[in-house]
Amino acid sequence: MRTIEWHSGTVKLIDQRQLPHRLVIEECTDHYQIAQAIKEMHIRGAPAIGVAAAFGLALVAFHSKASSPHELLKELEEAALVLRNTRPTAVNLFWALDRVLAKARSNEGNLPSLKEAIIAEALLIAEEDVETNKKMGAFGATLIKDGYNILTHCNTGALATVDYGTALGAIRTAWEQGKRIHVWVDETRPRLQGARLTAWELKQLGIPATLIADNVAGLLMRQGKVDIVLVGADRIAANGDVANKIGTYNLAVLAHHHGIPFYSVAPTSTIDLSIPSGEHIPIEERDATEVSHIEGIPIAPEGFPVYNPAFDVTPHRLITGIVTEKGIVYPPFDINLRRIVEDS
Ligand code: MRU
Repeated sequence: MRTIEWHSGTVKLIDQRQLPHRLVIEECTDHYQIAQAIKEMHIRGAPAIGVAAAFGLALVAFHSKASSPHELLKELEEAALVLRNTRPTAVNLFWALDRVLAKARSNEGNLPSLKEAIIAEALLIAEEDVETNKKMGAFGATLIKDGYNILTHCNTGALATVDYGTALGAIRTAWEQGKRIHVWVDETRPRLQGARLTAWELKQLGIPATLIADNVAGLLMRQGKVDIVLVGADRIAANGDVANKIGTYNLAVLAHHHGIPFYSVAPTSTIDLSIPSGEHIPIEERDATEVSHIEGIPIAPEGFPVYNPAFDVTPHRLITGIVTEKGIVYPPFDINLRRIVEDS
């Protein structure tokens, strides 16, 4: 199945906390359950949480007992607040909520037509995500030559989206084109999205890959064993600064030092032109136990202070290019990102 699916009034999603050991499908019937699934990372990855939020509003519309469009709009606004309050960094969450709300506000029909319009918009966002990923995959694959060793971080595959993936989608396209490639998979402490999710996806796809601890990248680059770094993005500021999973910045600095191309692969819905630079991107801090414990077992002295930011910001000058569904954007990012977003 896809990472997240709509089944008339029920949202089914893969509970990613259980992977790679168990494939568990969770069912949500209200937006509170969706909010919890996002916050606790049953579902994660910027595009996937955007779709989950949109489906959260679709659930409100489907099950609403409102007696007028005005009343339903109020319910939607309240639900959107709950959903907004889950994770702060990935802009796709806010983008998707705003898009469904805008559709609802512009609807001038009766209650059934409003409900229908809300659900249709959420479904459209989900469908577009898959199409967008395939387009990004095609552009991204042009950067991957036969024989390349690719380094990636976190999980940017089907699980981070509705299907197919962003950076991992580009890798997948290159593989499907018959290129002989190999992927270095950063384990991605503390939540281990690389080890648990990316490795699981790559294994299923049959793409040659090797899991590494996050601190191995420098050695590999120095040994000439990395040809390109491909990562995703959770929010891209107007100047091209990229917020992505913690540790991405480390890779960008290393890649820059070794003269290795560093690309972010992300849909234009991840570009936030309202934010001039990365300094303005809110960085989520998560629970200390993610660092101090592994699978519930403490690995540090009890009560030892922990700092656990979930994301970092890579300055645009360290980024070779940004792959979107509309093409690959190169510097100057402030001009070219705006151009690509505004070009319809
Ligand atoms: O904390 P997560 O697992 O939601 O973080 C995910 C990432 O950082 C991904 O790289 C990003 O969302 C882009 S993936 C399509």
